[in-house]
Amino acid sequence: MPRIKEEVIEEILAKTDIVDVIGEKVSLSKKGKSYFGLCPFHQEKTPSFSVEPNMKIYNCFSCGEKGNAATFLQKTENLSYVEALESLAKRAHMTVDFEGYKKEDPNKHLYQINQDAMQFYEFFLKNTVSGKEARKYLHDRGITDELIAEFHIGLAPEEYDTLYNTLIDKGHVAVDLHNLGLIKRSKQETFYDLFRSRIIFPIIDEENRVVAFSGRLYKDEEGPKYINSPQTDVFTKSSTLYNMQNALFHIKKHKRVILTEGYMDVIAFYKANMQEAVASMGTSLTNDQVRKLKRYTNEVYIAYDGDNAGLDATARAIELFHQAGMQVKIILLPDKLDPDDYLHKYSPDALQEFALNKWIDPLEFQYLRQLKTIDSTKLMDIEGFKKVVFDLIKNTSNTVIERYLSKLSKDIDVSLESVKQDFEQYTKRFIKQASKTMRAVIPIDSKYAIAERKLLNYFLLDRKYFISYNNKFDELFFIDPVVRDIKMLIEDKHYELYDEDITRRITVNELMPLLNEQQQVFFQEKVYNKYEELTEAEYIDYVHTIEEYVHYLTKIKDLEEKIQTADTVEEKIKYANIRDKTIKEVKHG
Ligand code: GTP
Ligand code: MN
Repeated sequence: MPRIKEEVIEEILAKTDIVDVIGEKVSLSKKGKSYFGLCPFHQEKTPSFSVEPNMKIYNCFSCGEKGNAATFLQKTENLSYVEALESLAKRAHMTVDFEGYKKEDPNKHLYQINQDAMQFYEFFLKNTVSGKEARKYLHDRGITDELIAEFHIGLAPEEYDTLYNTLIDKGHVAVDLHNLGLIKRSKQETFYDLFRSRIIFPIIDEENRVVAFSGRLYKDEEGPKYINSPQTDVFTKSSTLYNMQNALFHIKKHKRVILTEGYMDVIAFYKANMQEAVASMGTSLTNDQVRKLKRYTNEVYIAYDGDNAGLDATARAIELFHQAGMQVKIILLPDKLDPDDYLHKYSPDALQEFALNKWIDPLEFQYLRQLKTIDSTKLMDIEGFKKVVFDLIKNTSNTVIERYLSKLSKDIDVSLESVKQDFEQYTKRFIKQASKTMRAVIPIDSKYAIAERKLLNYFLLDRKYFISYNNKFDELFFIDPVVRDIKMLIEDKHYELYDEDITRRITVNELMPLLNEQQQVFFQEKVYNKYEELTEAEYIDYVHTIEEYVHYLTKIKDLEEKIQTADTVEEKIKYANIRDKTIKEVKHG
């Protein structure tokens, strides 16, 4: 594919009024030569997003997004670079022929086959005798003809080669059908349809291309409830979500997405007038799916099934969304119901009401989930639960802490006084994560990260090291959360051994069983030095390194606060520049 000539790109950008383009999506006000507004790429209350008409660029000094008019369109409208340029050229009334530059999709014919297959299944559901029976099944489940059309639901005939013959008659070739998983090859070297006697849910991507199918049993027959198309050139299971094509507009409009497990749950939300629902289709959520959603919104409502498997999947999903920096709300339906069950037991309005007003936050979800696992007559359970709750709330606000301590005291039937005391004792070892910005820039092999890791060896060696270390840094900062967790475990072990012998060293053999698999690997590969290799001088060196780090951290946090609270944009820019310079220093420190 030829590349668009630089001169052409330059001309398009030169003829583009970037303020005009961005102004359609961001309300901008003029200050000097620049324009300012609320950044569309992250949540903020005061403007950090600037557009420079002279330089024809935009830049957010809070989140760091920057680019030109084409990249802006690319990101906000989900276009390719060429498509974005084409759109800008149109605005500027330029006649540039883009056809030669657009990638001809090598899989175009495969999408066409899937499209034809979908139409066949739809037709078959609508117009045949067996279709009548399948439609009755759907109607009985509350899926009207309108919904059938909206979701392009179809039916695969009972015969073993109807789809095959239909598509071949249309001029498609068997090898493509086979590659798409629509047909299989028998031992006798004949072809037969994959889906037979099943209700068909087409899976359509956000560009409206049919990528795969899922077929559900609807008669009393043997076999798995659903079967899916295999992975193909146009279907990667791990990055696909059901109903993206319909939901995308609504996700952008409502700035939220509802994530369900199943097709039926997506349809249930649709009936509850919430069209922004997509499904991860029963398998556990992947990072690719998370990234896909994050392109369109920062807020996700998880509405998985209320059974145990659903709760586990929810916990994993929360983790992934948090890692991606997204906001999570949980729709925890009662009595192990899934959204579709809930809608039928109550009503579409009730489902909507539940989703909008009865969601809980991840903290409450974790709390409830842990609470369910304990036997409150067992002391061990109570002690364990307390620790879990303390750990959940220790970095939150006082209001949250108050609320949960009082909840905890009721749930385990212990006086509030005593719960508070325990919490205070627990948080004596108050620990903070390094700020997000800092963690993001600290390379894993920086001297700071290494020092932090290597100090663990000393903490094992003698409790005097961590006592002096903890005293030195009255608020502890951690670059790597794994180090934090291992350090906590070491300290716990020292406390446990305290009565036995104050100067006792913890051996690696004693430590290993306390660590999970990830921590073990981390310790062995990144931390462990032989006891004989540890010297006092090296310890002091590491501590100095951490001091230097804390110094930077404080400085950057200070600047970040100043950026947040500065009254004028000019001041914000000034502080942002100093901050960025400081971060660079740390990076190369
Ligand atoms: P109904 O049972 O018809 O209400 O559908 P559901 O969507 O509620 O199904 P369920 O909660 O059992 O499963 C959730 C999702 O997991 C489904 O929508 C499918 O995507 C997937 N799934 C369920 N069962 C199977 C199966 O047997 N095989 C495969 N491949 N996927 C399944
Ligand atoms: Mn269901």
